[in-house]
Amino acid sequence: MGTIVNEHQEQAWNGYEGRHWAAHQARYDAINIGFNELLLAAVRPGDRVLDIGCGNGQLTRLAARRSGTGHAFGIDLSAPMLERARASAADEGVDNVDFVRADAQVHPFPAAGFHVALSRFGVMFFADPVAAFANVRRALRPGGRLAFVCLDDVRRGDLGAVFGSAAAHLPPPATDGTAAGEPLSFADPDVVRGVLADAGFVDVACAPRQAVGRWGRDAADAADFLAGWGPIQHQLGPLEPAVTERVRAALAEAMRPHEGPDGVHLRNAAWLVTARCPD
Ligand SMILES: C[S@@+](CC[C@H](N)C(=O)[O-])C[C@H]1O[C@@H](n2cnc3c(N)ncnc32)[C@H](O)[C@@H]1O
Repeated sequence: MGTIVNEHQEQAWNGYEGRHWAAHQARYDAINIGFNELLLAAVRPGDRVLDIGCGNGQLTRLAARRSGTGHAFGIDLSAPMLERARASAADEGVDNVDFVRADAQVHPFPAAGFHVALSRFGVMFFADPVAAFANVRRALRPGGRLAFVCLDDVRRGDLGAVFGSAAAHLPPPATDGTAAGEPLSFADPDVVRGVLADAGFVDVACAPRQAVGRWGRDAADAADFLAGWGPIQHQLGPLEPAVTERVRAALAEAMRPHEGPDGVHLRNAAWLVTARCPD
């Protein structure tokens, strides 16, 4: 592994957070599956594709398939998630794919080595997003395409009310999550447009999108899962078990209206961001 500048992220994604994503690979993919096609639309036959913050690698594998004779390269900080990504590629027989454990902000990508760079919720965590996207731009060919989804304000999707139900039982969070490197750092499209312009991208477009994901087989299962999710665990960690139980019950209650015969489905809100490397 090369130079890491996002040490805090490196610890999180190789600690509790990354282990949770690796252990619940199928669940996270079921939650986010509705965003895949929006991103894969940018991939053409023969493309060399970069997947930034690829995690367990579902999008990387799909992009590799979509590229046909092309190739997909996933980069991520998380050893447990990359282990899942490599094992899944082998299981599915996808062999035009490679994964590397490295920091996308500073990794020495081959200059102009990719036709397209994608990311499904893997680009919000850079301490210096302009430096990170300038590094990605140098990895793209002239005219190369960028397409990613990043979190929108959760209140614009069904998660807003679900989180609201838990918040009533928790101390207020230390931050609102919008600072550089935090999950909502790209929730404001003006911030995204500024970062990408400063990093040298052109034709930046931010479009609000919603996709339905499956969070669990029933409300209790979805609540158990969400109570174990990193940001909620972080807040629950030092609290009394009774508080944890109240949070879990509140989450289950909030999930119940979304329960159906095929499980719990929520509308998730994101920005689809597209841009281009100058010719
Ligand atoms: C929310 S997860 C999304 C994972 C995957 N793209 C998916 O949709 O399932 C964010 C991912 O970004 C990765 N990540 C965060 N900062 C990174 C960095 N500086 N370089 C490479 N990967 C990073 C994390 O390790 C994590 O796997």
